[in-house]
Amino acid sequence: MSLWLDFLTNQDLLIHKWKHYFPIYEQHMRRFQGQDVLMFEIGVSQGGSLRMWKRFLGPHARIVGIDIDPRSAPAAEDQVEVRIGDQSDPAFLQSLIDEFGVPDVVLDDGSHRMDHVNASFDFLYPLLPKNGVYMVEDMHTAYWEEYGGGVGVPGSFIERCKGLIDSLNADHARGALPSDEFTRSTRSMHFYDSFVVFEKGATTGKHAPRVGKPLFE
Ligand SMILES: C[S@@+](CC[C@H](N)C(=O)[O-])C[C@H]1O[C@@H](n2cnc3c(N)ncnc32)[C@H](O)[C@@H]1O
Repeated sequence: MSLWLDFLTNQDLLIHKWKHYFPIYEQHMRRFQGQDVLMFEIGVSQGGSLRMWKRFLGPHARIVGIDIDPRSAPAAEDQVEVRIGDQSDPAFLQSLIDEFGVPDVVLDDGSHRMDHVNASFDFLYPLLPKNGVYMVEDMHTAYWEEYGGGVGVPGSFIERCKGLIDSLNADHARGALPSDEFTRSTRSMHFYDSFVVFEKGATTGKHAPRVGKPLFE
């Protein structure tokens, strides 16, 4: 069953998602289906999305929901854990790593405040394994002052991402840009309406060998 159909027919706990996110989730999470995968979702609310990920990812998946509101805790069930804490607190995030290990998939659907989104990304993204995926949704808030955003505002996550595009390509800048761990560990960045995805993986930054017959010398 597609994730979209699962959402439309959900009779379990409440799920709160925008329609156009479903093809994005499918595109970036499909390869984890049936795998022994650990997913962190920041922002649990009623908990329906945690159970949707469980149905989508399959019997070997473990889903950890993170929320500051203790009312989210009862959403836990088999394969689904909920831990109560602040997404911007590195000590809390470290306790999750200590308890569950490093996640393969992170979805930030928490406060959507720029300081919180940045703090979670700062802590979790460097830890993600090769082939890991980090998704941040509802990034329309990056353009909203009350969330610490705004067009061109330093600290807006979208503004930060513009710089990360340079980091992704730094090896091609002939020394004009510093190549760092983000450059070495990030395969791709994807931008959608209100949604950003980072996929980790080795990139060679080199041309493939040329193959085929030349038309001219
Ligand atoms: C949009 S709701 C999550 C919806 C849920 N993922 C779904 O799809 O149904 C956002 C949640 O983030 C939580 N939240 C707000 N600030 C937070 C913080 N600093 N740390 C962790 N969770 C936070 C709120 O309590 C709220 O339950």
